[in-house]
Amino acid sequence: MKRSIRPIFSVVFIIAAAATLCFRIMVSGVSSGGELGYRNDIVVEQRPAPVFNDTLLRFAAVDLAEDSLRQDVEQLVDGNFRDLTSGRHRSFLWSGRHRIDIRARSARGVPVQLRSPEFYRLWLEFRRYLQTWWRNHRFRDDVMSNLINIVKILNTSNDDNEKGLKYKTCAVVGNSGILLKSDLGEVIDSHEFVIRLNNARTRGYERNVGSKTSLSFVNSNILHLCARRERCFCHPYGENVAIMMYMCQMIHFLDYAVCNASHKAPLLITDPQFDILCARIVKYYSVSRFVKETGKPLDEWAGSHDGSSFHYSSGMQAVMLALGICEKVSIFGFGKSDSAKHHYHTNQKGELHLHDYQAEYDLYRDLVERPEAVPFISDKFKFPPVVIHR
Ligand SMILES: *[C@@H]1O[C@H](CO)[C@@H](O)[C@H](O)[C@H]1NC(C)=O
Ligand SMILES: *[C@@H]1O[C@H](CO)[C@@H](O)[C@H](O)[C@H]1NC(C)=O
Ligand SMILES: *[C@@H]1O[C@H](CO)[C@@H](O)[C@H](O)[C@H]1NC(C)=O
Repeated sequence: MKRSIRPIFSVVFIIAAAATLCFRIMVSGVSSGGELGYRNDIVVEQRPAPVFNDTLLRFAAVDLAEDSLRQDVEQLVDGNFRDLTSGRHRSFLWSGRHRIDIRARSARGVPVQLRSPEFYRLWLEFRRYLQTWWRNHRFRDDVMSNLINIVKILNTSNDDNEKGLKYKTCAVVGNSGILLKSDLGEVIDSHEFVIRLNNARTRGYERNVGSKTSLSFVNSNILHLCARRERCFCHPYGENVAIMMYMCQMIHFLDYAVCNASHKAPLLITDPQFDILCARIVKYYSVSRFVKETGKPLDEWAGSHDGSSFHYSSGMQAVMLALGICEKVSIFGFGKSDSAKHHYHTNQKGELHLHDYQAEYDLYRDLVERPEAVPFISDKFKFPPVVIHR
């Protein structure tokens, strides 16, 4: 999600976030091999290294939202309240009166005055988070190999992880309606590590989606909503489940500052280097698809893909995370079908256009069939086997 988002887009985004993942899954012959269908037994063949198109790589490496993101960061770090109280962040702050509405968040149940010591403390913390994040907002191709360090944070009681051991099996569970009547609940729960998306509830759906959750992966709009609840309640999976989010608006660092203090389980923010990597990869797939399908020049891509609002989905980044911290990755509930609901847990009809689900699906197919074709990733990174369950 782009960071200079306008309020109307925030609403759209929240719906989009809830929409999670929907693209057509067309992989055949990948499931049902071994116990969970992993293709351990495959003979490694020598394949020619993929040839990346430099023009596409360069194009995908440009973030159209970079300038407005920089502006946002600079304004916020300077404490520019004018924009906050009158502009696009109005939903967060009460306009005019210079009050920040954190009633639901402050334990004492009163709005915090902008010039109060409590707000000042939050503000300093907010600035610190934001500055650190921004300093780190650079591309690095070896970021996939560093994701394993997250495991240590997720599970400090596990000494094995000190040695950089990964989870043996991971399930990434999308929210597509194709999960209904799938009976995959037990299969999902049999994985050592289960990642769920955007707080989709499992209660009442256990048989098809399982009930185990090791990590709740969300976008920061979800935290923003949680932050309005009593003590930042954000735990559809229980208060001990760690939450990881990517920051889609810089102002959400304020929500983070409010919530991190009171959260029992770790509240983690994706590394901005990891965000950039994911953004480049999805844009590459989207642009390649666009050029192939339409034959139009590259510079027309932005017009048909929401330009600077274009963003990878939460599901895509969760899959990328799993690749970094797991020895085997299974993907569930990604994809759509004419006979299935959009979401297993909502009645939402359509999908939103700021994600290119088809492009993301092209990526998943490469992850299953030829991960070396995924651009922007260091040769040193070894992809784990990936299986897509339908
Ligand atoms: C790379 O892609 C661009 C844009 O589609 C195209 O014009 C160019 O011919 C491609 N280059 C190669 C070497 O295939
Ligand atoms: C954390 O580590 C403990 C001890 O090794 C293990 O029993 C537990 O399943 C781990 N938790 C997660 C979420 O991986
Ligand atoms: C959030 O709080 C935890 C526990 O208090 C702390 O270790 C962590 O550093 C905080 N997060 C950030 C980004 O500072």
